Amino acid sequence: MKHFIGVDIGTSGTKAVLFDEKGTQIGDYKVRYPLHRPQVKWAEQNPDDYFNATVTCLKNLVETTKVNKDQIIALGLTGQMHGLVLLDDNDQLLRPAIIWCDNRTDAEVKELEKRFGKKMSQITGTVPTPAFTLAKLLWVKNNEPAIFNKINKILLPKDYVRYRLTGCFVSEYSDTSGTQLMNIKTYEYDKEILDYVGISEDKLPKLVSSVDRSGKLSPKIADQIGLSRDLVVAGGAGDQAASAFGTMTFEEGQFSISLGSSGVVFAPSPLVIDETGAIQTFAYYAPNKYHIMGVTQGCALSVQWLKANIYGRATNFEKIEREVSYVQPKERTPLFLPYLQGERTPILNPNAEGVIFGITANTKRSEIAYAVFEGVAFSLRHSLEAIVKLGVVPKNIKVGGGMSKNLVLVQILANVLQIPLIVPCVEETGCFGAALMAGISVGHYTSVEDAIARVNHPKTKVYYPDKTLKALYDKRFSRYVELYRAIEPLF
Ligand code: XUL
Repeated sequence: MKHFIGVDIGTSGTKAVLFDEKGTQIGDYKVRYPLHRPQVKWAEQNPDDYFNATVTCLKNLVETTKVNKDQIIALGLTGQMHGLVLLDDNDQLLRPAIIWCDNRTDAEVKELEKRFGKKMSQITGTVPTPAFTLAKLLWVKNNEPAIFNKINKILLPKDYVRYRLTGCFVSEYSDTSGTQLMNIKTYEYDKEILDYVGISEDKLPKLVSSVDRSGKLSPKIADQIGLSRDLVVAGGAGDQAASAFGTMTFEEGQFSISLGSSGVVFAPSPLVIDETGAIQTFAYYAPNKYHIMGVTQGCALSVQWLKANIYGRATNFEKIEREVSYVQPKERTPLFLPYLQGERTPILNPNAEGVIFGITANTKRSEIAYAVFEGVAFSLRHSLEAIVKLGVVPKNIKVGGGMSKNLVLVQILANVLQIPLIVPCVEETGCFGAALMAGISVGHYTSVEDAIARVNHPKTKVYYPDKTLKALYDKRFSRYVELYRAIEPLF
C-alpha cells in the first residue's frame, strides 16, 4: 500500500500527518514554536523553527507509525501564506520571517497604492495589503537597506522548508499568488512590480503547480529522518487551498471555512477581481483555476485571548464552551469586534482594534465569552456577504481548521450564517490536502478529480442553523457592522 505525507507549517506550530493511499490517517505529530511580537503590530518567527519542527515531526512519524520507508512515496507541503523569509548569498537567514499577521507596513501600502492604483488588483488579484509579501519586502527596502542589499533568495515559509529539505529553490502558484509578485492572469512573476521593488527574478523561486513534483529529499536529510532517498516533494499549496482540498472542496459552489489562527471563507471561482479589496483572488490548487477568499485576522487568537485574559490560562477550555452554550443572546447582549491584530477583509484596516461593546452592570463573563465567539462568526459572515456580492454563491459549506473542534463556535457560526455547516471528522485538513497533492505529483492519482473519487471521504457531521434565531442574528449583525462604521475614525 502506498503512503503520502502532508506537512503544514502553521502559525502556532508544524504538523505532519501520514495517510495511506485510501486517505486513512496512519499517524500524526505536531511541534509548536513561538510567535514574536517585538513591537505593536509586528509579528515575526524564526524560519529555523519551521525547518527543525518539520524534521522532528517527520522523524517521529517514521518512528511511531513504523511504515516501511519504501512505501512512503511522496510528501506535500502547505503552510501559512504571505510570510517573508530572506536568505543571503551563503543561504544564511538575513532576519526573522515577517509573517502574515504583521501589520507594520502602512507606509508601504500607501506607497504601492499611489504607484499602482487600480492596476495592482488587475495584475495580482487584490489591492495592496500589509498582509502580503510585497509590502513586507518594500518595508525591508525602506527600513533595513543593508539587509535588502544582501538579499539573494526570497521565500515563503513552506518553501524555505522545501529548500532545506530538498535543495530545490521552488514555490508553487497558489501561495505565490499571495505574495503580490505574481501576475494572476499569466501565472508569471510581474516585471513591473519586480522592477519597482528592485528585485530581479533570479532571487525568486521557480514556480510549479500544486500537484507537480518540486524535487526529492536530499540524501543527507532522507537518511537523517529515515525516509527514502527517492521520496518526492510535491509543489503543495498555501494553507487555505490545501485545507479546502482536504475537506474535498473542489467545484464552484462548494465553499470551505477554515477556523485556524486566521478565519477564512474560501470559494472556488472563475477569475473575478474585486477592486475594492473586500475579497482577494488567488491561484487555485488545481491547475489553471482560481479561488477567492475573505480573511479575518483574529479567529483562534480571539478565543485564546479570551481564555488567557478573561478566564485565566489554567481554565479548561470546555468550561468556557459550556458557559457560552448556556447564553441566550438578546438584541442588546454585548458585541465583540475581533480585530485584535487589525482586520483584513472586507474592511481592510490594519489599524482596527478589538472592541467589547455594550457592557452594563448586569453583564456576565459568559456573555462576554459569547460575544467573542459570535464576533468571530460575524467577521466570517462579513466576508461571506462580500463574496456573495461578487456573484459567487455557496451551495454548501465545509468547515475545517483546528478550531472546528470547538463545536459551540461551529453551532454559533451556523446560526449566524443561517446555512448548514458540514464538519469533516479529520482535524488536519491542510495536511490531508497536501498529502493528496503529493499522491497526484507521483501519478498515483491522475488528477484532483481522481483523488477525490478514490479516497475515502472523511465522515462528516452537519450543524444545522436554528431558524428561529434568524431575525435576531440579522439585527445583531447589522449592529456589529454599524458599530465598526461608527468608531472607524477613532482607529
Ligand atoms: C491567508 C492568510 C492566513 C495565513 C495563516 O490569506 O493570511 O490564512 O495563511 O493561516
